[in-house]
Amino acid sequence: MSDLSIPQAEQEKGVLEHVLLVDDNPVNLKILYKTLSNGGYKLLTAEDGETAVQIAQQTKPSLILLDIMMPGIDGYEVCEILKNNPDTADIAIIFLSALEISSAKVKAFAVGGVDYISKPFQADEVVARVRNHIKIHRLERQLARRNFELESENHQIFNAVSEGIIGLDKDGRITMLNPSAMVICGWAVADCLGEQLTALRLFEVDETVKMQEHETLPYLSYRMGQSAHSDMKLIRRRDNTFLPIAITSTPRAEGGAVVVFRDISEWLDSEEALRIARQELESQRQNIAHMERLNTTGAMAAGIAHEVNQPLTAISNYSRVARRLLERENFQHQQLAELLDKLNVQSERASEVIHRMRSYVKKPNGVLSEVDVNEMVMEVIVLAEVDSRINDVSVHFEPQLDLPALHLDVVQIQQVTLNLIRNAMEATAMANSSAQGVMVKTERQGNAVFIRVIDHGVGIAEGKEDQVFNPFYTTKTNGMGIGLSICQSIIQAQGGTIGFEHNPKGGASFYFSLAIT
Ligand SMILES: Nc1ncnc2c1ncn2[C@@H]1O[C@H](COP(=O)(O)OP(=O)(O)OP(=O)(O)O)[C@@H](O)[C@H]1O
Ligand SMILES: [Mg+2]
Repeated sequence: MSDLSIPQAEQEKGVLEHVLLVDDNPVNLKILYKTLSNGGYKLLTAEDGETAVQIAQQTKPSLILLDIMMPGIDGYEVCEILKNNPDTADIAIIFLSALEISSAKVKAFAVGGVDYISKPFQADEVVARVRNHIKIHRLERQLARRNFELESENHQIFNAVSEGIIGLDKDGRITMLNPSAMVICGWAVADCLGEQLTALRLFEVDETVKMQEHETLPYLSYRMGQSAHSDMKLIRRRDNTFLPIAITSTPRAEGGAVVVFRDISEWLDSEEALRIARQELESQRQNIAHMERLNTTGAMAAGIAHEVNQPLTAISNYSRVARRLLERENFQHQQLAELLDKLNVQSERASEVIHRMRSYVKKPNGVLSEVDVNEMVMEVIVLAEVDSRINDVSVHFEPQLDLPALHLDVVQIQQVTLNLIRNAMEATAMANSSAQGVMVKTERQGNAVFIRVIDHGVGIAEGKEDQVFNPFYTTKTNGMGIGLSICQSIIQAQGGTIGFEHNPKGGASFYFSLAIT
């Protein structure tokens, strides 16, 4: 009656559970078979212990209903044999026996039975108990399978991650480490397992100073139960070389800690490369800005010559008058002194123009200084007036008083201001609207100071708004078209904004912001 033909896969899928019925009494066996025949199981039968063991080993049923008293090996022995074999150990065994003494039941459980049904049995009871144990057995199998999957998944992750992972017990002894930890630290598992983490001297960067256990980052976790992290620490490898790492140490619920760390040398290299690239970009930007200042100075050469020429002419005149004075017999010292004072004023005026031009074209050293914005704008206006006389456009200044001092690279901000004022004067001259002049304003708005340059000139043509800040965009015959693009790069590098609005009364209103720090 034995049926060994059910394929293993079908059983695994849970389509039909195998149940083995064992009784030396064929009548009993038949009743049992009948009782369970509608339960949806694949029923197998055996009439003695040896056959039962053999079928169980071949088919691995989910459950065995096992008679105790049998000729040959009895039910207890069958149970012990099966429990001692890992392949059959998890088969649920329910003993069936007429033995009513409690020692028989105790022994049934002692050898590994999950249940005990007394004969003569109630059909309903057998069906219910079998159903329950099959269910439990199925759940146990699922759980075991899932556990196995999780464990092997964990194991794969543990072995595959590029981060080094070290497990520590509550005393800081190493309980596990993954392959990446071995590569990063240069230690093999056999050297470390069971060792105190401090024995590896991973965190001893300074040869001369012995590091105490409580000074190491993981200590906080395995001893104090706190998480700890560092973006950048040096780790000492077994060969006494050092590697930069980012490290996190987390306490474990069951005590001890997990330390996870990552080699960040490549990342630091790319950070360094990025820093150098940025530095180069910045220095190129400054070079271009410097060239633009030289270019502007060149464009302003006529005005500068004119500006310097005026005091020089005056100096020449005063010195002629002084010479004539000396030729007089009764000249008064007082008159000569006055003339010399005037000479001095004029020579200072000339040297001031030259000084201003020189400081405008000098290369900035990148040092920020504390600046009074209104004073700075005023200096630029004086510089721009060189052109204002030639263009016949006056520049007015409306400062907001009580502005806070700002930290600025003065040369660069003067460059932006001068470019905007010169553009405004040129636009005004082109529109023949010189009478209105150019207005420069300073005003505080929130956490920034805005500098506005307002003109009533030709204005920005409709549709060209997007282009004015583009390099080489110009509408002027002698323009280079780089003034505004440089202004934009200077202001954006400082995190400020620069832009313009159409002036409702014609002309343009350019502005930029300087952060109050
Ligand atoms: N205030 C303004 N009013 C009208 N148009 C302006 C004004 N400012 C700039 N523009 C327009 O933007 C263009 C670009 O200005 P930008 O200062 O970059 O170059 P540019 O003045 O033409 O030459 P340069 O390089 O010598 O300064 C100008 O040619 C002009 O068409
Ligand atoms: Mg310009």
